[in-house]
Amino acid sequence: MLSRQRKFLFFFLCFMVVQGLSAQQILSDSIERAIDRLLLKMTLEEKVGQMNQYNGFWDVTGPAPQAGADKFKYDHFKQGLVGSVLNVRGVNQVRKLQELVVNESRLGIPLLFGFDAVHGYNTVLPIPLAEAASWDLPAIERSARVAATEAASSGINWTFAPMVDISRDARWGRVMEGAGEDPYLGSQIAVARVKGFQGNDLSSPFSVLATAKHFAGYGFAEGGRDYNTVDVSALTLHNVILPPFNAAVKAGVASVMNSFNILNGIPATANHYLVQDILKKNWKFNGVVVSDWGSGVEMIDHGFAENLSQVASLAANAGSDVDMESYAYVNHLKEEVRKGTVSLATIDQSVRRVLRLKHLLGLFKDPYKYCDTTREKVYAMHPEHTQVARDMARRSMVLLRNENNVLPLQPQKKKIAVIGSLAADKNSPLGNWRLAAKDSSAVSLLEGFDAAGISYRYAPGVKLVTEGPVHFVQELAINNHDTSGIGYAVDIAKDADIVVMMLGEHGLQSGEGRSRAQLDLPGLQQQLLEAVYAVNPNIVLVLTTGRPLAITWAAEHIPAILLAWQPGSQSGHAITDVLLGQYNPSGKLPMTFPRSDRQLPIYYNQFSTGRPGPKKEVFWSHYIDESHAPLYEFGYGKSYTQFSYSDLQLSQRADTVLVSVKLTNTGSLHGEEVAQLYIHDRVSSLVRPIRELKGFKKVRLDSGASTVVSFELPTSLLGYYDGEGKLLLEPGWFDIYVGGGSAATLSAGFLYSK
Ligand code: GLC
Repeated sequence: MLSRQRKFLFFFLCFMVVQGLSAQQILSDSIERAIDRLLLKMTLEEKVGQMNQYNGFWDVTGPAPQAGADKFKYDHFKQGLVGSVLNVRGVNQVRKLQELVVNESRLGIPLLFGFDAVHGYNTVLPIPLAEAASWDLPAIERSARVAATEAASSGINWTFAPMVDISRDARWGRVMEGAGEDPYLGSQIAVARVKGFQGNDLSSPFSVLATAKHFAGYGFAEGGRDYNTVDVSALTLHNVILPPFNAAVKAGVASVMNSFNILNGIPATANHYLVQDILKKNWKFNGVVVSDWGSGVEMIDHGFAENLSQVASLAANAGSDVDMESYAYVNHLKEEVRKGTVSLATIDQSVRRVLRLKHLLGLFKDPYKYCDTTREKVYAMHPEHTQVARDMARRSMVLLRNENNVLPLQPQKKKIAVIGSLAADKNSPLGNWRLAAKDSSAVSLLEGFDAAGISYRYAPGVKLVTEGPVHFVQELAINNHDTSGIGYAVDIAKDADIVVMMLGEHGLQSGEGRSRAQLDLPGLQQQLLEAVYAVNPNIVLVLTTGRPLAITWAAEHIPAILLAWQPGSQSGHAITDVLLGQYNPSGKLPMTFPRSDRQLPIYYNQFSTGRPGPKKEVFWSHYIDESHAPLYEFGYGKSYTQFSYSDLQLSQRADTVLVSVKLTNTGSLHGEEVAQLYIHDRVSSLVRPIRELKGFKKVRLDSGASTVVSFELPTSLLGYYDGEGKLLLEPGWFDIYVGGGSAATLSAGFLYSK
């Protein structure tokens, strides 16, 4: 017999469904009612506590800290003055801290546990910019799912990812963390990553809250110098910077992190227009806005706030719900409410958002649902994840050059020399955001060759990094003097049929705080490359980097160049797979490669200018000492086979433009091609870029095969945003370009008349 309560619930649910309320709506209503009840019980201090986030700092399973910051934080946990924590991980640690809060604080509200599982956790996937080069949305989603599974199995329920900052300046170290220069590709990838992290059900123990960061404009720091001033037009804000955030919000991202920078004079953490007007009001975002680490207190350095009290009121009123490590809310928000500079309603709105996420995760039902030691043993590292990492790494690599089909390698017939300290490096391939992974846990290129049974002679050539710390927070010491290894490297090169050189950046030369003014091969690597080339030009360059590099000399001399980025844990195996042709490279650049760092910023979706040129006299937009063209353009990437495009057809239907093109594999190997669709609005009320990516499809074709690739282009994608963020759709002539990169020439045009 059903108990009376269950009977009531059954008939209540039937009644609600009859009322047309979905189960989702019913759940949502019940959560809001539960939050109402809890808010009524909470003191103002406890409410402010939910808006306070601390960094983890001690071995929670050890004795209680007795002094200093650790002690006051420990006490605040017990007093219910902390709502979330970051960098506490591992099931035992998480359980211990959750028990402290749930059992000792007055209301026992469970904590959220955050961590930067940006490109993996124990298993490290390729850096996000590398993944973006795959243009493979299902693969990118799978990759995020692996990160979520491993993090969640280790007690984490909130990842501070995906980073969706668009950037056009490769000097900025954090380009490695994003999806490149294009808002359309960036938006598609943002959605794939949010889905991967959050899954279809936030209550699953393998799902974590995702965070779209850094809101907003961080990637436009002047000079590519991290944390620097951002001053952009409203057009750039609405047409380039905001679309990936909007896409993430539409995909249901649970949180948004604001950025360190000012945006047009106002720090993002206190930017009412960004957070309250755009994100919460216009986009109806109902998740949590968390500050970046200390971005609140940094308003004082920005010259926007006099003290932490003002920081607290400015940030809270602007809609920043959680304060990460500024200690502004926990120490001053209660007083600001008493003074009347912040209303209790504002506090309640923020607290509601935090409590809502805890309900959606199921933490009120079971605060320890992420603390399963068996799940941790099985999923915090898993053989399947290794396969996903290797596959993702292969798909991310971009073949930049392959003269005379030097690649794929036929090692059995060739004497091979491998040169470069990075070929033996097991740490660098992990890239920048590898906090959970064991250092030096990547498969090196040499190990990849060994596993494939390739025989070779090896010489490091020149060290890239000299003595000194190799750590996430410290500057790397780059070798700019010791050339002692070049002689032996040249010797083994002389004697080889082919030389594989792994050169580029160390994984900790990009990422936060790692802007570079020069985009050359760091240290003495260019000297090594030219010395080897002088005795043996048959070089395959494996370029490892966290950003586009200005490798113009290599592009003019080296017959084969494979861009491997920082491929993660399975680096050596994935690079070997591609070099041997076991995987035919299919990557396409998500960010322009410049000829020189003096061209920056350089990007494909630029405006025409009034003097696009070229002209016989000097009066057109160019440099007199450098080409103004990129080295390799956005969307560029070669294959071991060849593809051709023909028979571009357009037709219009209601609110869709139908585009089709014939794609043929004209080469001798099967391969994958990313067919890309660009538009150009020839005349508009506000000038439009000469090319704008509006569609892409990744297609696999056998040698000699053809297929028709079709795109359904919604006419809404012909529009653009004005300075207020309103979508403008104007009649006029549009050119459509389809091809294997942004330099595609196959085009057709149509008159869009609305
Ligand atoms: C860092 C980063 C941010 C990260 C946060 C927590 O400074 O800017 O992306 O999520 O702090 O680690």
